[in-house]
Amino acid sequence: MSQTAAGRRTVRIAMNGVTGRMGYRQHLVRSILAIREQGGIDAGDGTVIWPEPVLVGRREYALKALAERHGLDPDAVSTDLDAVLADDSVSVYFDAQVTLAREEAIRKAVAAGKHIYTEKPTATGLTGALELAGLARAAGIKHGVVQDKLFLPGLLKLKRLIDGGFFGRILSVRGEFGYWVFEGDWQSAQRPSWNYRAEDGGGIVVDMFPHWEYVLHELFGRVTAVQALTATHIPQRWDERGKPYPATADDAAYGIFQLDGGIVAQINSSWSVRVNRDELVEFQVDGTEGSAVAGLRNCRVQHRSATPKPVWNPDIPATEPFRDQWQEVPDNAEFDNGFKAQWELFLRHVELDEPYTWDLLAGARGVQLAELGLRSAAEGRRLDVPELSL
Ligand SMILES: NC(=O)c1ccc[n+]([C@@H]2O[C@H](COP(=O)([O-])OP(=O)(O)OC[C@H]3O[C@@H](n4cnc5c(N)ncnc54)[C@H](O)[C@@H]3O)[C@@H](O)[C@H]2O)c1
Repeated sequence: MSQTAAGRRTVRIAMNGVTGRMGYRQHLVRSILAIREQGGIDAGDGTVIWPEPVLVGRREYALKALAERHGLDPDAVSTDLDAVLADDSVSVYFDAQVTLAREEAIRKAVAAGKHIYTEKPTATGLTGALELAGLARAAGIKHGVVQDKLFLPGLLKLKRLIDGGFFGRILSVRGEFGYWVFEGDWQSAQRPSWNYRAEDGGGIVVDMFPHWEYVLHELFGRVTAVQALTATHIPQRWDERGKPYPATADDAAYGIFQLDGGIVAQINSSWSVRVNRDELVEFQVDGTEGSAVAGLRNCRVQHRSATPKPVWNPDIPATEPFRDQWQEVPDNAEFDNGFKAQWELFLRHVELDEPYTWDLLAGARGVQLAELGLRSAAEGRRLDVPELSL
């Protein structure tokens, strides 16, 4: 699509944390730059929404190098967040910094009247997360939190099955997430070391329970109670400089979640497990009429009418090829990158006032579940998850 500058609704976005794993690859390159490459977002009135990033961070040379690599304005980089927030031409603040740095930056951005789009978790504690949601509401700004898993092809297919009534009554959900994250001594770790230090905002519960909250909530029902057991299976790791450090955060969490309506969900999350699955995350859903196994991309089903009748007999080899008895759910649609799809919806919300529900209050629910999950593990008991409101 070719557009004149006059047909563009330019949205200047302060992007903080773009040198990081998520900020760079998922948000800058695969979302904002991809939207520009496709010619912007069609507003439906002859104009396009055109995101214009302003790269914010701590190292000017790294930001300049990024701007140069991607043909962006070399002057639209800054190490001074306050100055960027004072710039009236910037209307959106985006945060993909390390989790610990997020809350303070978002507070400043809300105070400056910017719309907010942010990675999860929105804060390290529920009090802070709720305060952010309250401040944003009082300021009358628009706000959104990344909930990328909802846009994965596998989960979209699962949602389609639920909406089509495939399962009958859903009984249970079993999720298995994880892979082996190298310790960093003889092979470098594939995740940043702060993830393994509680004092730096790390830990798999803080990282993954926010995702499980919105996945369970949107697909199956609100989480009403949580029981978790956490572990730090690997007590020592090696950081980006090859220096050993004690791993103080949980690297595995075994969680049971009770959902509104009676569904039981059990999700294992681990950075200390080797993959013997088709995908890095898989959810098995069992219902009275049928079952499904959904991963990031694929989804397989088995209907009640095609369910085998195994008989327990350990003395003979398995009588049926159980894994072959499932049927692949077809795509039936083109699936865009989930991060980009959600950015597009958020920018439409900002520019065109279209509805958008994944806001800072939804983000606070994720933080709440992480906080209660950790407390449940520390106290060794199941905890209710009260419904949040502002
Ligand atoms: N949506 C998802 O699926 C998903 C996946 C992974 C991470 N995340 C979230 O994204 C955020 C960033 O994670 P990441 O894996 O990209 O981390 P990362 O370490 O790769 O990047 C962190 C970014 O924050 C910046 N930063 C700002 N202050 C810092 C400080 N004091 N110390 C270190 N870095 C600082 C770094 O320069 C870098 O740009 C986290 O909040 C994490 O929870 C989300």
